[in-house]
Amino acid sequence: MTHSLAILRPDDWHLHLRDGAMLNAVLPETARHFARAIIMPNLIPPVVTAADAAAYRDRIMAALPEGAAFEPLMTLYLTEQTDPADLRAAVESGLVKAVKLYPAGATTNSHGGVRDFDRVRGVLETMADLGTPLCIHGEVTTPEVDIFDREAVFIDTVLDPLRRATPGLRVVMEHITTAQGVAYARAGTDLAATITTHHLVINRNHILVGGIKPHYYCLPVAKREEHRLALREAATSGEATFFLGTDSAPHTDALKEHACGCAGCFTATNTMSILAHVFEEDGALDRLEAFTSLNGPAFYRLPTNTDRITLVKGDAVTYPSKIDTGDGTVTVFDPGFPLHWTVK
Ligand code: DOR
Ligand code: ZN
Repeated sequence: MTHSLAILRPDDWHLHLRDGAMLNAVLPETARHFARAIIMPNLIPPVVTAADAAAYRDRIMAALPEGAAFEPLMTLYLTEQTDPADLRAAVESGLVKAVKLYPAGATTNSHGGVRDFDRVRGVLETMADLGTPLCIHGEVTTPEVDIFDREAVFIDTVLDPLRRATPGLRVVMEHITTAQGVAYARAGTDLAATITTHHLVINRNHILVGGIKPHYYCLPVAKREEHRLALREAATSGEATFFLGTDSAPHTDALKEHACGCAGCFTATNTMSILAHVFEEDGALDRLEAFTSLNGPAFYRLPTNTDRITLVKGDAVTYPSKIDTGDGTVTVFDPGFPLHWTVK
């Protein structure tokens, strides 16, 4: 039986750090284990220009604990006003590593997102030229479409036409939650998919059975068990298409435990423990490193990290159930089973 596992230091290819007091509180949770993270730009107001990204990067660096080595990989929030020349300069200077597409209204702070894809054609062509990944929140926002079908409908009605219209555009399907997402990602070229920690653990029953559990509510919402199993199979396959993007998304308890609760699971604190458990359960510990440390940099055309972390299995470990922030407490994701793996 394996009790210790050294892997190249992981990266998180989809992370929400927020700003101000929340940033100060959550950044150390990620920087403890992860070398780099793709930083989501859905602040209020969003990070839309190179200047916004540079300023946000400075705020993140200023919030890093003394001695922490962590590199934020900045993204721009795509709007119908995004200037292809500003984007090109931001990518060529190394500041910006990806662009995020939120269909308008799909999730937290997405109202400034894209409504008419014809209006972002110039930006997408610039990105195809530069090889810059487009990270897509893949859900339709059409009111008539059932929330549990929004990812699958997006793939057929938006993603596939968009990719066909822009040959060479490199796309990351963010936080996939369905078997359809797995199948589509697997079949494509210039295409990858991130998978969150929580979607490997929960299905929709966890949110709704025995009383509503707001801390399990996120977007895309967790689906049926068969979809969770498809995600598990994909994540643990070792295939280059799939890599970790935690989508760790802190909201204060006051905003989660609310009549209209915010979407997001905060997993930065215990992600590596949970993933080691999941991969061990599926007999795939030898493929954990591919998922957390190799496949992401390969797709983003960045070097892998060179140092290693060591995961150790022992007595059950406990994590704080909440972390304090200057804005209020944030609940740490509860996987619902005891954790035995820790990062040494
Ligand atoms: O659950 C989510 N939370 N999904 C998203 O797409 C956004 C995120 C957030 O920013 O809170
Ligand atoms: Zn997100």
